[in-house]
Amino acid sequence: MNLTLKIWRQKSANDKGKMVDYKVAGISEHMSFLEMMDVLNEQLINSGEEPVSFDHDCREGICGSCSMFINGEAHGPVKGTTTCQLHMRSFNDGDTIYIEPFRAKAFPVIKDLVVNRSSFDRIQHSGGFISVNTSGNTQDANATPIPKHDADLAMDAAACIGCGACVATCKNSSAMLFVGAKVSQYALLPQGQVEAKERAQNMVAQMDAEGFGNCTNTGACEVECPKGISLSNIARMNREFLSGAIK
Ligand code: SF4
Ligand code: FES
Repeated sequence: MNLTLKIWRQKSANDKGKMVDYKVAGISEHMSFLEMMDVLNEQLINSGEEPVSFDHDCREGICGSCSMFINGEAHGPVKGTTTCQLHMRSFNDGDTIYIEPFRAKAFPVIKDLVVNRSSFDRIQHSGGFISVNTSGNTQDANATPIPKHDADLAMDAAACIGCGACVATCKNSSAMLFVGAKVSQYALLPQGQVEAKERAQNMVAQMDAEGFGNCTNTGACEVECPKGISLSNIARMNREFLSGAIK
């Protein structure tokens, strides 16, 4: 395939940035989207130009670092797929592909397609943990019976990889699907009850302090989430928040 790429180039956080056109030729339909970006970068390096910066790590859909807005969609056109799991067979010879960073006030661009998502880390630090005795008397995990239904829902919530697609997709740049998933994975389990009163309160306070917007129930986040995190996690977070507010 021969493709035209329109890519957001931005030298630094303070640079204004602009879309720049590139041509890539001989792209195999079996390549992943990131391999196609590797081909472009090799081309740029060989011609003495600055390669396009983008985040990636696992390249198998589990680390959540490959944040890209592709043709106006977070992680591109295929549902339930991260950018690294997207393959060029989803595109056609002669296509023009628009590639931009995830855009949100709380995710400032560092360079080109790389954004700073440490705001998510700070939300996690504010309440996304449980207290476990690790002094040598650690209880066997199977010693606490958990209803299968609750375990399944907690596992579904824990599938969130913290990629930020929900924020990038939301017109309010809301992080409530991410925070809802992180609150839910503990709220559904007995191990999560020790900090339950403060968890949602603290995580929501940090979410607001980072500058994320509120949820207005559009549901775009759920549609674009590569892990299929359900909006019902936002409802659970709201219930946890309210019950935490009642002293
Ligand atoms: S809720 Fe989905 S879109 Fe949002 S950070 Fe988690 S995995 Fe990514
Ligand atoms: S590189 Fe890890 S999820 Fe894409």
